[in-house]
Amino acid sequence: MNYFSETLKKYFLIPVVSIESLDKIAPLTQTLQAAGIKFLEITYRNKNASEALKILQNNNFNMIIGAGTIRTLAQAEEAIKYGAKFLVSPGFNKEIIHFAAKRNIPFVPGVDSTLSIELANSEGISLLKFFPAEISGGIKWLKSIKGPYHEIKFIPTGGITLENLDLYVKLTNVAGIGGSFLAPKRLILEDNWDEIALICTKAIKIVELARG
Ligand code: 3PG
Repeated sequence: MNYFSETLKKYFLIPVVSIESLDKIAPLTQTLQAAGIKFLEITYRNKNASEALKILQNNNFNMIIGAGTIRTLAQAEEAIKYGAKFLVSPGFNKEIIHFAAKRNIPFVPGVDSTLSIELANSEGISLLKFFPAEISGGIKWLKSIKGPYHEIKFIPTGGITLENLDLYVKLTNVAGIGGSFLAPKRLILEDNWDEIALICTKAIKIVELARG
């Protein structure tokens, strides 16, 4: 988990993408890397996820590529086979937690309540995805949870935009930010790499300013 958490401290942002068309994967990754993004999360929301990871595995991108929306052990196994360097789930899944620990791969399960924090924490996990962040209470939730769970860090994901990003980044229990806003589906479909680069550059600037 260490290299993941340590690198996250520096780069902070994790674009979350669903690959609708495999020919987009190379230009997208190139664009993100050139803009200064280090992480990329490919979601298992469609049949392209494994193939996208495979394509990325055979390229020389200097990025940390992981797999998101991991809901089954089979998906976790497949993602690792195709080179995923970290796994993310929308919820708490004990089976995947144990599997990831055995395979020594960073795994960030999703939580949205004190119950799910307790469950994850009882498995020794202290870096959690807060999902779906905005609709589950957003900034207010993170502030309220900080007292009782002061040692837990979160990666809020779901509803983060360039407009609310700085409010999240300023919170000391936020260890990183995930979101599709960094590489929106529509812009990927339109091959609008310039606009994606611009969004990422703006987001990196916001993170830098907010964290001092
Ligand atoms: C995810 O899969 O992690 C979320 O759907 C991303 O949420 P967003 O699209 O609101 O950023």
